[in-house]
Amino acid sequence: MTLMEEQRASRVDAQASNATVSDGTADRAAPVRFEATEDESRRIAALAGSTSGSIRLARLLLRQPRLVPHALRVALHGASAGLRADHTLSWLIHVDTVRQVIPNGGMGATWGGLDTFMGLVARHVSRDAHALELGCGGGRVTRHIRPLVGTLVANDISERILAEARAATVDLPPIEFRVTSGLGDDLCPEEFDAVIGHELLMQFNFDELLRYGSNVQRALKPGGVFVASVYTFDEPGEISRHMEMIRNYGAGVRSPFRVHRMPRRTYQDIFEACGFEVVEVQRSRPDEYKAEKTPHTNFVLRRPLTPAS
Ligand SMILES: C[S@@+](CC[C@H](N)C(=O)[O-])C[C@H]1O[C@@H](n2cnc3c(N)ncnc32)[C@H](O)[C@@H]1O
Repeated sequence: MTLMEEQRASRVDAQASNATVSDGTADRAAPVRFEATEDESRRIAALAGSTSGSIRLARLLLRQPRLVPHALRVALHGASAGLRADHTLSWLIHVDTVRQVIPNGGMGATWGGLDTFMGLVARHVSRDAHALELGCGGGRVTRHIRPLVGTLVANDISERILAEARAATVDLPPIEFRVTSGLGDDLCPEEFDAVIGHELLMQFNFDELLRYGSNVQRALKPGGVFVASVYTFDEPGEISRHMEMIRNYGAGVRSPFRVHRMPRRTYQDIFEACGFEVVEVQRSRPDEYKAEKTPHTNFVLRRPLTPAS
């Protein structure tokens, strides 16, 4: 082969190999699809909802061992958060802690903060009302409510806590104590003239509150009132102070319990979505509390006489 023939041959080879490379590149650069077929979406949903999640997690950890310490940390944190999120355990631990310091102290002995709330109950609940106290705890607020209403039912999720409330109110006119569970699904329609819930609703997130609120609304007779306390962000700077705490202490700041705090407007929207009219909103005074604490925001809500059209 002459030099010229060699050069021509190598040019042809190079062109051929370039063609191969460019073909390969074209394959690899094939446009990504951002639309799944219906069948693919169905298969993804079926896989996501299947119980094979742990197997897939195990496979992922085997493939990427660097994720193992992270997964262990998440598992430990999840177990601890799960235990603390259980209201009954949380409250019993709290009661135990209080009793270590105050041997005859009932649940809530350290809390204070009832003036504004009970003022609203006295003003908006009629003296002959058939009333329900939600989440009565150890009976601290029950003792204040009982003289203000005609008949009283008090509920809580913990039998042990209810036994405490019963013992704390033996000197009062009869109170019916009921064990409840979940988000008020067991409440009977139109049973009560008034429902009162102190320091309960902050345990629920947005979705849970929509459900609990609707159940309470249904449990009220038309025109009945719901007096409830929550924690809100009202004043300028409150959200940024909260963000600072989250930065310093992590989400769910410093609370052993599952406590939610939302803007007042958000609570108002939730209650209205549940079918309530907002009658009055009043924040408790800081000096009502023994220890430094975010004052409650107290809502007075009414089930309208006629359903909103
Ligand atoms: C912070 S304590 C308040 C007790 C009392 N209301 C007071 O202010 O002294 C909250 C209470 O709500 C109860 N609780 C938690 N979840 C509940 C639910 N889904 N329905 C009714 N009570 C619940 C807890 O067991 C606890 O006794």
